[in-house]
Amino acid sequence: MTKKTVFSGLQPTGNVHIGNYLGALRNWVALQDTYDCIYCVVDLHAITVPLDPAEFHRDRLEAAKVLMAVGVDPEQSLFYFQSQVPQHTELAWMLGTITGTGQLNRMTQWKDKADVAGANLGLYSYPVLMAADILLFRADAVPVGEDQKQHLELTRDLALRFNSRFGEEFPIPDPIIPEHGARIMSLQDPTSKMSKSDPDEGSRILILDDPDTIRKRLKRAVTDSGRDVRHDWEEKPGVSNLIEMMALFTGGDIASIEDEYGDAGYGTFKDAVAEAVIEGLAPIRRAYRDLDDAEVARLMQRGTLDARTRAEGHQQRVRELMGF
Ligand code: TYM
Repeated sequence: MTKKTVFSGLQPTGNVHIGNYLGALRNWVALQDTYDCIYCVVDLHAITVPLDPAEFHRDRLEAAKVLMAVGVDPEQSLFYFQSQVPQHTELAWMLGTITGTGQLNRMTQWKDKADVAGANLGLYSYPVLMAADILLFRADAVPVGEDQKQHLELTRDLALRFNSRFGEEFPIPDPIIPEHGARIMSLQDPTSKMSKSDPDEGSRILILDDPDTIRKRLKRAVTDSGRDVRHDWEEKPGVSNLIEMMALFTGGDIASIEDEYGDAGYGTFKDAVAEAVIEGLAPIRRAYRDLDDAEVARLMQRGTLDARTRAEGHQQRVRELMGF
């Protein structure tokens, strides 16, 4: 039996945080043993906001390094920069011609940004490029956090539409969204998700943050009224967020954390969460320190060549089906 194909991407916008890790990247790594995995630093997606070229250039390599430190293994998975494989944008253009503007207008991420200065065509058609990423490699499954669900639905719609108009070509990809950790919340506002672009640095913990920073961030994390440590998203979103983090980093379950820290008070509990996060991230920090920039760049270049070859085979078929 041939292995199923998994595809996912991360934007190189700096600030890779524990939400990215717990919601998606952990799964990327875990899936590598079983599936044919393709992972991509989606640098074209990152240019829909104003950018500084030198900073962007550093962030691209940095993202590749962080992903390797987390455990993306270029010997096992196909790993490369999106911009280096032009078939992504070719397929995006083709899929754009079967995407209704009504459907793009309903995308929540677009609705949040449409009215701010700097809204542009790239931001609007962003979900079409994402669909092209996934469909280009005929992915069966896509490990992501919950915020990508709507984009996956569009991808599935486009695959079905293409198949019915031009011939069965694309598998209909399933999202892989973890039961816990799919939506890690901001430490400063537990009703909104932890985000790379939040101007408040205190809202997130980065994968490479040092232990002191992690302790500080968690000490200042917003908690809820009362003092009991209980998992209840309705009444205690702040505490629930911390409980989930702790469970995911220690591999423990939520009920035993509630048992152990129920009456301990928020201060003690936050200290314990900090230690769990620090310990969970320690191997990643060590792996990161051992990576050499030039070697990472070389591996990405090798990935590019393999990805182009594979993408071209698939894309040739799409061109034929469409009559080119
Ligand atoms: P990006 O770079 O914003 O985020 C990378 C992954 O992290 C997940 N994530 C979270 N999970 C849990 N809690 C959070 N607070 C949190 N914040 C982010 C995201 O769901 C994502 O899985 N559009 C994508 C990139 C992309 C892509 C693709 C993904 C482009 N093409 C094709 C999959 C397949 C994005 O902006 O991810």
